Amino acid sequence: NSTSNQLLVIFGASGDLTARKLIPALYHLYEGGHFPENFVVLGASRSNMSDEEFRKKVVYESPYLKEEVKTKDAAFIKKFADIMYYQDLGDDYDSDYTDLKNRIESLDKECKTNGSFMFYLSTPPSLYEPIAKNLSDQGLTKGSGNDKGFRRIIVEKPFGYSLETAQELNKGLQKYFKENQIFRIDHYLGKETVQNLLVTRFSNSIFEPLWNRNYIHHVEITNAETVGVEKRGGYYDKSGALRDMFQSHLLQIVSLIVMEPPINSNAEEIRNEKVKALKSLRIMRSEEELFHNTMRGQYVASSINGKRVKGYREEEGVDPESKTETYAAIKFFVDNWRWKDTPFYVRTAKQMPTKVTEVVIHFKTPHHQVFKDQDINNKDNKLIIRIQPDEGILIKFGVKVPGQGFQVERANMDFYYSSLSDSNIMDAYERLLLDAMQGDATLYARADEVEAAWAFVDPILEYWANGQDVNTYGYPAGTWGPKDSDDLIEDSNGWRNPGEH
Ligand code: BG6
Repeated sequence: NSTSNQLLVIFGASGDLTARKLIPALYHLYEGGHFPENFVVLGASRSNMSDEEFRKKVVYESPYLKEEVKTKDAAFIKKFADIMYYQDLGDDYDSDYTDLKNRIESLDKECKTNGSFMFYLSTPPSLYEPIAKNLSDQGLTKGSGNDKGFRRIIVEKPFGYSLETAQELNKGLQKYFKENQIFRIDHYLGKETVQNLLVTRFSNSIFEPLWNRNYIHHVEITNAETVGVEKRGGYYDKSGALRDMFQSHLLQIVSLIVMEPPINSNAEEIRNEKVKALKSLRIMRSEEELFHNTMRGQYVASSINGKRVKGYREEEGVDPESKTETYAAIKFFVDNWRWKDTPFYVRTAKQMPTKVTEVVIHFKTPHHQVFKDQDINNKDNKLIIRIQPDEGILIKFGVKVPGQGFQVERANMDFYYSSLSDSNIMDAYERLLLDAMQGDATLYARADEVEAAWAFVDPILEYWANGQDVNTYGYPAGTWGPKDSDDLIEDSNGWRNPGEH
């Protein structure tokens, strides 16, 4: 794939995400030689800064590029910093963009970016539509006349707060940009191991014949973080684990596990299959179903290695009586030919004992037991896909214990990404930015995907907000969630201890 000359405008350029994620990702693309000949970054926000001040903030004095600035050749760093420019938008993002337009056009001419502009909205979602409209008012959303340049817009998570708000956001953006110009970020899709779900499934003939209700007993997905809500209490308390992680990242993983084989690897073919998968999740409607299949929890104060750890309700920005979940576990079914009656269990939480994201495919036990002394609790085959950390794949299978008789034990076949000779895993933002620069939307969420995910999540949110008998179970920070969480998965032998080999 080739990357053509272009100008990247970052809205929200003085914000944390720009310094923490975007600029370092751009730096690594620069270092890896992925920039086209002419590549320019124009930061835009409400702060008053000169180009030089912006360069200082996001490059020279950035805590996120400290090591690079210290150790790399000064001229090399300067060349990178010099592609950065800055435009003050005044008091409001929703204002007249004439100055911005003039700046874009003069940089375009000066730096020969051929009228190709990419707008990155690192702003709250409430600003997506106003920014899109103001860009459109200035004629910046479409290449015009002989101008062959492209116009693209990238938007950040959270994409909506509910199905209705996501639909509004989509409509708002689609008034000014065509769907194929819109790139919705879900950084989990930028992770190599998430992409590898497709390759594992569809480049091998040894898994796919078994990848269905006939051979798979259940699917278990765990996403655990050791951190709490940190400085994001204000945002998080209005969001919660279901919106923050499940609706986006985890349902993206689910869609890749559930989907049918695409006819090829084009963005639209893959995304068509993902949408179909998301639409086939059985939406829970009755209180009884929701009661039995969903569980939320919240971490409470505890002591980890002798140090007191705050409970969620004590965190800054969090309502002391908050019911917002920092733990969410959902059991659900997929209503289609392949998956009928196969339970899926997905959990996500903060303040867990380790950081780990893994998918576990639990295969059914052989239908006839030949070897009688096989450990009854450990006789199924498992395929464990480690999304992070220790990226890799583990297969558990039965082997004969040497000696008399037929005693069976589990053995491991374990693949680590780090064992690949070229295992330099690109950061998710790097990969996603590069794809957008090249116009490849495969790893970006399409409007209908996002809406299908919300359609599944909405009734759960509604039930948790207003249903009868909904508990928010407490769990001590640093543990594997509420004591009762095993009830949800009891017919499948409980949750696996993640990270265990
Ligand atoms: C973000 C969530 O989208 O993903 C955060 O808003 C979460 O709450 C983060 O911590 C997790 O990402 P990763 O890549 O560290 O698993």
